[in-house]
Amino acid sequence: MAELTAVLASTHHPFYYKATTSPLQERPPYAAQWQRKVEAYRETLTAAEPDILVMVGADHFHQLWLDNYPQFLIGKQEVYDATFYNEEREFGIPKYTLAGDIDLSRYMHQELLGADFDFAVSHELKIDHSIICPIITVRPEADLPVVPIYTNIFVPPLPSPKRFYDLGRAIRRIIDAYPSDKKVAAIGTGHLSLELGGPRQFGEHGPDPLFDADAIEWLSTGNAEAILANVTHESMSGAGNATHGFMDLLLMMGIAGEGVHADYVDQLDLFHTREMYITWYPHQTDRQAQAAAHAAEVSGASLGPIWASDPVWDQFRTDDAARPAAQPAV
Ligand SMILES: [Fe+2]
Repeated sequence: MAELTAVLASTHHPFYYKATTSPLQERPPYAAQWQRKVEAYRETLTAAEPDILVMVGADHFHQLWLDNYPQFLIGKQEVYDATFYNEEREFGIPKYTLAGDIDLSRYMHQELLGADFDFAVSHELKIDHSIICPIITVRPEADLPVVPIYTNIFVPPLPSPKRFYDLGRAIRRIIDAYPSDKKVAAIGTGHLSLELGGPRQFGEHGPDPLFDADAIEWLSTGNAEAILANVTHESMSGAGNATHGFMDLLLMMGIAGEGVHADYVDQLDLFHTREMYITWYPHQTDRQAQAAAHAAEVSGASLGPIWASDPVWDQFRTDDAARPAAQPAV
């Protein structure tokens, strides 16, 4: 059977590439720390020695639109092209060509249908930054075949948080049962609290730092019960108008498993949003433990959960205005 060697859940930030590759004098002041954290996080994937990447993301209205936006979609192709014109223009993200793994795509699709997840399938999927950003950050060689899975975090009505979690659990069972001697890593990106195009965009911090505190604790402790009790479409709208990408992080936690503590947890307050980098090793080896320890030394990450009671969050608790009242869903 295949071996799931790592599960990575992180935010994706399309400005990372430009912020860390432009001439030094043009880089933002936070670029060096950001790059240090990302390159440390990369070590946690490298130590997993994956052969295939199962990648979870969402199309940001690049090729899926309001007229036909599937709740869940899997790509099944030999090759995927990446980077849409506006992502090159606005973010400076280069073009990529990623190999696909047809065999695992086919198996995954069939087994997901068997698990009552009625997936759409695409044979002409183009990859956007939800999947290219983690390639840039954790596998810049772009040398491994991928199985892309897209979810709907944008076009209401959305699937429920529980559906995302259950999908993660199903993907885990399918990878574990995949008849292959390959090592598989699952990498998914989404968002913590996030505001796009609304009044809380580009604030000093993300729109809801205390949501982020809870979210990072819940994810890094595998606390599905707390998430499913506290996180609804409405509550996510209250935390920021694009916070629904949190459900892709919940999906990744589902792949790792209920109650499973993360092995590497890092975060970075990037003024208008918070970055988060989590890795779980389902069967942690000495090499993986050493890699995570080394990476944490460089980045300041935690080798286990970051709790909402951590003093790092205290600055936000003293500010009554830090947590906005929930807004009605739109
Ligand atoms: Fe996004």
